Amino acid sequence: MKIKTSTFVMSNSDVTKCPNSQLPEYAFIGRSNVGKSSLINMLTGRKNLAKVSGKPGKTRLINHFLINENWHLVDLPGYGYAKVSKQEKKTFQKYITAYFEKRQQLVNTFILIDSRHEPQPIDLEFLEWMGTNAIPFSIVFTKADKLKPQAIDKNIADYKAKLTETWAELPPYFVTSSANKTGRDEILDYIQKINET
Ligand code: GTP
Ligand code: MG
Repeated sequence: MKIKTSTFVMSNSDVTKCPNSQLPEYAFIGRSNVGKSSLINMLTGRKNLAKVSGKPGKTRLINHFLINENWHLVDLPGYGYAKVSKQEKKTFQKYITAYFEKRQQLVNTFILIDSRHEPQPIDLEFLEWMGTNAIPFSIVFTKADKLKPQAIDKNIADYKAKLTETWAELPPYFVTSSANKTGRDEILDYIQKINET
């Protein structure tokens, strides 16, 4: 898919106030600092569409972007950031959960996982929660430029092994680097295929 236009639509914490169009929607979520906002900029070919920061916890709201006038891309806050207060964590969790449970337009969620790490309990828990609630998702292994290919393969194999303990079938997965655009065509083509069906 070619990205012709990408525009910021709105930010909010209330799923009922998200854009009320019926356009198909694709969300990006994962641990704080995993590279969600960077991936969105890489996919759209825009440097500063989504706000990137070296400090975890940058994205705090549900952010809608309109792509090619025909689908929405959503940047979500990261989970598992230790430095926010307990109260703030609860509030986060509430509106993120509400988003996943209520957002009818949501077609697929990309769950981002840092390819450098072994399976982390918080990611496994989130994957399980999505699976249990039957919310369609794919996995994106990020920051591939930081590892040698063999190391990435090993971490992906470990994840697969962990996931097959729970599920018979694994979701589609992608390997990406926002630094050198790895995985861009694969993700965009995947979205296009779904949009066309
Ligand atoms: P929060 O909004 O805080 O949850 O973070 P996020 O998941 O949106 O991460 P963000 O895109 O802000 O990136 C976090 C840090 O990782 C930044 O310093 C990025 O430059 C860096 N980063 C993101 N993706 C990549 C990548 O593919 N390769 C490398 N080398 N660095 C990356
Ligand atoms: Mg972010």
